[in-house]
Amino acid sequence: MSELNSDMSQSARLSVAPMMDWTDRHCRVFHRMLSQQTLLYTEMVTAPAVIHGDRDRLLGFDAVEHPVAVQLGGSDPKQLAEATAISADYGYDEVNLNCGCPSDRVQSGAFGAILMKSPDLVAECVAEMIAASPVEVTVKCRIGVDDQEPHDVLPEFIAKVSAAGVKRFTIHARKAWLQGLSPKENRDIPPLDYDLVHQIKRDNPDLHISINGGIATLDAAEEQLAQGLDGVMIGRAAYHNPADVLCQADRRIYGQGTDTDPVQIVRDMLPYIETHLSNGGRLHQVTRHMLGAFMGRPGARGWRRHLSENATRDGAGIETVEAALEYLL
Ligand SMILES: Cc1cc2nc3c(=O)[nH]c(=O)nc-3n(C[C@H](O)[C@H](O)[C@H](O)COP(=O)(O)O)c2cc1C
Repeated sequence: MSELNSDMSQSARLSVAPMMDWTDRHCRVFHRMLSQQTLLYTEMVTAPAVIHGDRDRLLGFDAVEHPVAVQLGGSDPKQLAEATAISADYGYDEVNLNCGCPSDRVQSGAFGAILMKSPDLVAECVAEMIAASPVEVTVKCRIGVDDQEPHDVLPEFIAKVSAAGVKRFTIHARKAWLQGLSPKENRDIPPLDYDLVHQIKRDNPDLHISINGGIATLDAAEEQLAQGLDGVMIGRAAYHNPADVLCQADRRIYGQGTDTDPVQIVRDMLPYIETHLSNGGRLHQVTRHMLGAFMGRPGARGWRRHLSENATRDGAGIETVEAALEYLL
């Protein structure tokens, strides 16, 4: 049984979604500085990549990122168990299994959203993962795929996977269409069914249920929590407009800590950026995640434009960030 870890249950009141190519380690450090409490997820890493690939590159993270969860993709119980044990050794606070990603590449490996069709296999996978490490194992899923009837399949999926020991789920409240829609369209076109996620929570009061999909503000997150859900996961809005989603999160969602100021946080990022540059990294690798830091505020366009035009140049350093900040002052 994967124990419901009470610290992580609390952290999971708000989370930033796993997003390929977006929530890399630099993005997560920036988000962590904006909010001390919010749970952060890695991009999905496949179990075979964890086992056979460059682990430090795939799994390495900065100690400041805690609480941080790794998301694994796969459908082979033994491989997932091995990847879970390796991830736990790296120090992740949670291992999440991806049962929601519809991309072609993922389908070809028979994992991601297609696993909504195989709850018994998912149960087997999570049972092996739980046995492989003391770290909490969680699942991120859809409400169904293709012509499945969500009101039938989601309760069955949750029942089977929770019987195998998972106590915390994040449900992206729309179906995925595995044929005919691109991954991007699959994040917008299938209609949202928040009521079904609330129904799952009412029917399973002992499970920790987070809702995901189309939630763009802290107000909307607070509303979901007030209606009885345990957590809210925010994806695109947290990436594109991180200050609005994260700067007040510690006070409003967790009742502790004070609001952060994005100008100050950008300044606080400078030592981290300098270390990255001195290790041979490029400025743009960090600052590309910070372009939306001032969305909607005076000077935001100048900030974004200055960084977009200059941060990719050879030898660009923190003076580029300082110059971009001038637009805000
Ligand atoms: C660029 C991008 C990459 C994503 N990659 C993943 C991923 O690796 N794993 C996953 O479970 N979901 C992935 N998603 C889906 C998000 O985690 C989330 O479920 C989805 O964007 C809906 O939430 P939102 O409306 O708050 O953005 C991705 C979404 C985006 C926009």
